[in-house]
Amino acid sequence: PQDLERYLAGRTLILLSNREPYEHVRSEDASAEDGIALRRPPGGLVSALDPTMQRTRGTWVAWGSGSADRETAGEDGRLMVPPECPSYTLRRVWLDDADVEGYYLGFANSALWPLCHLLLQHYETRAEHWARYHAVNARFADAVAEEVARAPGDAVVWIQDYHFAAAPAMVRERLAATGQKAFIHQFWHIPFPPPDILRLLPTEAQQGVLRGMLGNDLLEFHTERYAMNFMDCVAALVPDVQMRREHRRIHFEGREVHVGAFPISIDVARYEGLARRAEAARRAEQLRVRYGANGATLGVSVDRIDYTKGIPERLRALDQLFEEAPEMRECLTFLVVATPSRSELASYKALEDEVLASVAAINARWSTPEWTPIVLFHENIGAEELAAIYRAGDLCLVSSLQDGMNLVAKEFVACNVDEQGVLVLSRLTGAAEEIEGAVLINPFNVDGVVAGLREAIAMPQAQRRARMRAMRARLRRATIFDWLASILARVDELAPPAAEPLPR
Ligand code: G6P
Repeated sequence: PQDLERYLAGRTLILLSNREPYEHVRSEDASAEDGIALRRPPGGLVSALDPTMQRTRGTWVAWGSGSADRETAGEDGRLMVPPECPSYTLRRVWLDDADVEGYYLGFANSALWPLCHLLLQHYETRAEHWARYHAVNARFADAVAEEVARAPGDAVVWIQDYHFAAAPAMVRERLAATGQKAFIHQFWHIPFPPPDILRLLPTEAQQGVLRGMLGNDLLEFHTERYAMNFMDCVAALVPDVQMRREHRRIHFEGREVHVGAFPISIDVARYEGLARRAEAARRAEQLRVRYGANGATLGVSVDRIDYTKGIPERLRALDQLFEEAPEMRECLTFLVVATPSRSELASYKALEDEVLASVAAINARWSTPEWTPIVLFHENIGAEELAAIYRAGDLCLVSSLQDGMNLVAKEFVACNVDEQGVLVLSRLTGAAEEIEGAVLINPFNVDGVVAGLREAIAMPQAQRRARMRAMRARLRRATIFDWLASILARVDELAPPAAEPLPR
C-alpha cells in the first residue's frame, strides 16, 4: 500500500472496463430504497481496484446496463461512488440491444474469446459484429477522453481486457486532437493467440485489433508466452514496425510500445480470512460429514459454465475413473460448482444443457443408496460459502482447455487453511506456469486426467502438506496488490510524474 501511495501521487487514474464496480438493479427487497438495490460484483479485480480508485479520486468508465443504472446516474451517466463514502466518479456508457448483440455477445465473445482461447470450433465472425464493436469502442474512447480533460494532475488511462482492443488507439487520437496528454496502458485478462490464429479474423478486424492495441504505451499480459504471441502477431501482420524482442518493445508510428508479463492474483488475505472463520470451519465440516464420510475423498471444482473450462472433459474423466477403478466408487464425491454465464449465446446454453445431462447420467450410472458421485451447485455462490467449499476439499480439479490465468487455483490454495488439499491443475492455464506443487494434467487427455486424480487421491499426507505449504507461502508473496503495485511501478518507470502531488 505504501508503494501504491507513491506511484499514485500526482496522478489521476481513468479506468475503463466492460463491467462496472457498482451496479444498480431493481429489487423487491425491503432494504432497497425506491425499489433499487446496489450490487457489487464479487470479482477480485474490483476488490483491488476500488480502493485504488478511492485513493486517486479518478473516474471509472464502464457499461451501464438496465433502467436502475440510468435512474441512479446523472444526465451525463456520472455518479459518485461508493455510496457510503463517495470518493470517485463512475461514468456509465449506455448501450442498446444492437450494441450488446454486436459488441459484447458478437465480436468480443463469439470472435475474440474463442480465438484467444484457441477453441476455433466456437469462432464466428460477422461484419456487423466488428462494425458494432468498433463503434462501441469509439463511444467508450470519447468518454475516456472527456474524463481525461477533467482530470487534475497527470492522467493515466488504464484499459481492461478484450472488450476494448480497438479503444487504445482511439483514445490516443482523441487526446492528440485536443492537445491533451495521458499515459495509456491495457491489461489483457485472457490468453493472446499466435499469428496463425489471429489470421482467422477478417483483415479489417485483425488490423483494427492489433493497431488498436498498439495505441497503448504499455501492454500487460499474464505470461511471457502471451506477450511473445502478441509480438509475433504484430511482426507477422502489421507492416512497418520495428521491434526489440529482447527488450519487449515495439517501435510503431514514431513511438515505443512496451509489452510485459504481469501475472494477476487474488486478495489472498481476504480468502484466507473467509476460510478461517468459525462459520466456514463449521460449514466445511458439515460438507465433509455429508459427502466425504468414512474417509471418502472430497473433490471440488468451481467455474463459470464456459467451454474454455473443460467441464465435460472433467466429467468424462470422473466417469472413466469410476468405470476402471471400482474401488473408487463410494470413496470419491465431487462437489461441482458451475455458475451459468453468457446464457444468451447458443454455445453457452448448449454447454449448460450438456453439463446438466452428463451429471445426471453419471449419477444415474454409479449412485448407490448411500452415495451420489457428483453434487452439482448450479448457481452463483457467494464468497463465504465458496471459501467453506474450498476448505472442505481434499482435492481441487481445474481442467481448463485454455485459461489466461485461472484464479480458482489460487483461491483453493488460499482457502486450504488445513493444508491437506491437492491441486490438480491443467497445464494449459497461466497459473500452471507460476504454481509449483500442483499435479499437472492435460484436460484433452482423459486417461491422463484419470491418472492425475488417482495420484492426488493416493498422495501421502506428508507430501500433500509440504506441497500445499509451499504453494501457500509463494501465493502470499504474490497477491493482487503486488500485481497492481508491479504494474504501477512499471508505469512510473516509463512515465515519471510531471505534476506536483495533489493535496489529498
Ligand atoms: C473473464 C473476462 C472478464 C469477464 C468475466 C465474466 O474473466 O476476462 O472480463 O468479466 O470473464 O464474463 P462476463 O462476460 O459475464 O463479463
